[in-house]
Amino acid sequence: MTALLDAAERMDREELRALQLERLRATLLHAYTHVGHYRAALDRAGLHPDDCRSLADLARFPFTTKADLRDNYPFGMFAVPEERVRRIHASSGTTGRPTVVGYTQGDLDTWADVVARSIRAAGGRPGQKVHIAYGYGLFTGGLGAHYGAERLGCTVIPASGGMTARQVQLIQDFRPEIIMVTPSYMLTLLDEFERQGVDPRTTSLKVGIFGAEPWTQEMRREIEERFAIDAVDIYGLSEVMGPGVAQECVETKDGLHIWEDHFYPEVVDPFTGEVLPEGAEGELVFTSLTKEAMPVIRYRTRDLTRLLPGTARVFRRMEKVTGRSDDLVILRGVNLFPTQIEEIVLRTPAVSPHFQLRLTREGRLDVLTVRAEARAGATPEQRAAAAASVAAAVKDGIGVSVGVEILDPETLERSVGKFRRIVDERDKPGS
Ligand code: DLL
Repeated sequence: MTALLDAAERMDREELRALQLERLRATLLHAYTHVGHYRAALDRAGLHPDDCRSLADLARFPFTTKADLRDNYPFGMFAVPEERVRRIHASSGTTGRPTVVGYTQGDLDTWADVVARSIRAAGGRPGQKVHIAYGYGLFTGGLGAHYGAERLGCTVIPASGGMTARQVQLIQDFRPEIIMVTPSYMLTLLDEFERQGVDPRTTSLKVGIFGAEPWTQEMRREIEERFAIDAVDIYGLSEVMGPGVAQECVETKDGLHIWEDHFYPEVVDPFTGEVLPEGAEGELVFTSLTKEAMPVIRYRTRDLTRLLPGTARVFRRMEKVTGRSDDLVILRGVNLFPTQIEEIVLRTPAVSPHFQLRLTREGRLDVLTVRAEARAGATPEQRAAAAASVAAAVKDGIGVSVGVEILDPETLERSVGKFRRIVDERDKPGS
């Protein structure tokens, strides 16, 4: 295995930290010199890039938020002349302006390298076929995975999202070893295999590389069992690069190694912004170390996780993301993430992994209803017992009462990409 690793993956921690500091200082200077926003933010804080003499000094520098990116729409955060930008991606965002990101040729090369490294860590090897069902387009999933798989020397099947019946056909005919897709769309594919009378355990697939949305260990077990594959986690966000910021290694499946030679992580208290010690849960913050077109300094991801020491690689790990602070539901004072409900739903035998959370308002109270589908063939008694058991598990485990509806199979909307777990109808009249 070691022979397959690239030079940065074979560094020791001291070498890595020296490289990080050198790259960090260069990034701060690049951002300060070329991006008005960073110059103003550092000037306001009374700081100059030269004030960063150690990695710990970064904590003194100001954060960057999504709002900063929106305020500089479309190209105000770019640090190179527009003609040096080779590609643009954007995340749609639910309100207002999208967030725009740009890449130089050098950035595209780095991105392909880190995704290639990710696929290799997931167990992929040159010569294998990779079915990519992340959406192609302004979303970074499809194209990010695509160039990384090519860089590793794989054969790419650029299926993109949607046309589910055809995806199943392509997997049958082209016999890929690897699939890259959101975990929720993998479940949609699972149903389609079964609808077409194909046992998903008999496909050519060996590895699934799942990301772009939170998913739990229970979901891993479900997918691994039903498809007879290894399911590993890939993380990233467009503001920092796209997929391939961090990747779980197939040999340990113990959280995601952050490719720290390119992305410097911190975990901070989401309220005070204070840097937390390794192992404490908080908001993940990234500083890019090699980006040219759009360096980011202390970008607040809103993703909640903790940093852990490296295992299969020298790089530090991040635990599977529990959720985004935006997805946190506060119900009668109790904090709840959709992933906590996912764990419970997937442990309940009579219900399928398809579920959604509906938020409504009754008087002044917010009400959460877990809407989950029954497994095919579940009897009315089993369904009633499942509803009671999900409600009891939420009450006992999370400490709040929720409604539970067990629906007929195939009634909930299906994912074709990132799935919207929470349907918020609190502003709907009559709710
Ligand atoms: O979702 C990039 C990506 C594509 C990652 C394909 C992995 C695979 P954005 O659309 O900018 O980029 O959304 C980024 O998605 O801040 C997280 O909240 C969430 N996310 C991404 N990967 C994971 C993951 C892509 N493995 C946002 N687990 C991030 C949990 C994830 N959440």
